[in-house]
Amino acid sequence: MSLSAIRGAALTFTQDPFFNKPEESYSFIEDALIVIQDGLIKSVAPYAAEAAEGLAVERHEDAIICPGFIDCHTHYPQIRIIGAFGEQLLEWLNTYTFAAEQAFADPDQARMTARVFLAELLRCGATTAAVYCTVHPQSVEAFFEASAEVGARMIAGKVLMDRNAPASLLDAAGRDIEESRRLLEKWHGHGRQLYAVTPRFAPSSTPRQLEAAARLWREYPGSYLQTHLSENVAELAWVRELFPERGSYLDVYNHYGLVGPRSIFGHCIHLEEDDFARFSRDGAAMAHCPTSNLFLGSGFFKLLEAKKKWRPVKVGLASDIGAGTSFSMLQTLNEAYKAARMTGARLTALEGFYLATRGGAEALDLADKIGSLAPGFEADLIVLDLKATPLMEFRMQYAGTLAEKLFVLMTIGDDRAVRATYVAGRKAHWRG
Ligand code: GUN
Ligand code: ZN
Repeated sequence: MSLSAIRGAALTFTQDPFFNKPEESYSFIEDALIVIQDGLIKSVAPYAAEAAEGLAVERHEDAIICPGFIDCHTHYPQIRIIGAFGEQLLEWLNTYTFAAEQAFADPDQARMTARVFLAELLRCGATTAAVYCTVHPQSVEAFFEASAEVGARMIAGKVLMDRNAPASLLDAAGRDIEESRRLLEKWHGHGRQLYAVTPRFAPSSTPRQLEAAARLWREYPGSYLQTHLSENVAELAWVRELFPERGSYLDVYNHYGLVGPRSIFGHCIHLEEDDFARFSRDGAAMAHCPTSNLFLGSGFFKLLEAKKKWRPVKVGLASDIGAGTSFSMLQTLNEAYKAARMTGARLTALEGFYLATRGGAEALDLADKIGSLAPGFEADLIVLDLKATPLMEFRMQYAGTLAEKLFVLMTIGDDRAVRATYVAGRKAHWRG
């Protein structure tokens, strides 16, 4: 049995602040003692000397302890092409992305890149992510091996593509599903690892592959389905051309059986009310990728359309590396705030931190395991340093309330604000 404790200001959400009174949606303890036993949170309570007796207590001042951030959509192979100049989605895929992904036929390249990617996630405070590998099964093996070594709760899967990509990245009919099934059976539920069936997006899969992917996903309760939806207007036109008989982009996925609980759709920018209604009805989740959407010039996610109390849609935040430009969920929130402003909406700090933690866990159907600081939850937590930079230290003097401090954190904070990251109670990153 291992027992340890962390002491400091602690923030966790108890319900969704978009749908409830914000001030009743969270718990903040100025001086909390969080006791961790065997990778799980044993207790969270105001500090008391008796409770800390005999424990190795790590104390954090000028900081806020919160659940580890959750990144609901990202591509580990694309860490190699962050900051690739000048294109929109379809040209960006052809010019940079497919070229980079070909390297993952080599397991050594995959292993090396997976390690760098995971280290960067942890440095930025993300303890869970939903990750695209490449079409190569060895890219999936490399990612899960590296993630299992860290002990992080990760969702990942083999990309499925059988048309409209370079020949060396295309699945052979029949092999695609067999390989996915083998990886799913090996890794889904192996320790903290979870599998996502991963058709890249409608244009790069034939109807046969979409249908087979849905069948595989539905055969394994608890597994995930991840893909891209409605990111770019040229992509939308292409989908209409490829699937003329379908009413909308989402209708393509729905037609082949790919929409339901534990399905996660990246971007979701150019959607109509019917689409939001289906998401709500079917329990599917949207991954909001603001840095990517701005970088590629894709558009602005309609956050307030998604977060309607009368037809709620699950929304998580996402980096979408390498179209996204930051691993930091703080920087992602910074851009999410601006994207919301462009649609006339205001993303509050409490809403933002909810999206980055418990909201993400709900989007990934993991809200009973991660995303909260509460007894029985997995001990993935981060320590955010309120004085991480000279500017933050100066600015924080003039931030009175918790909401003000959080808003400054999500506006000017980044990886430097993550003082420590704990994965299943073990310190996996320490700044300094
Ligand atoms: N749509 C299909 N594939 C991709 C990808 O790799 N990145 C992004 N941003 N959109 C996609
Ligand atoms: Zn993506």
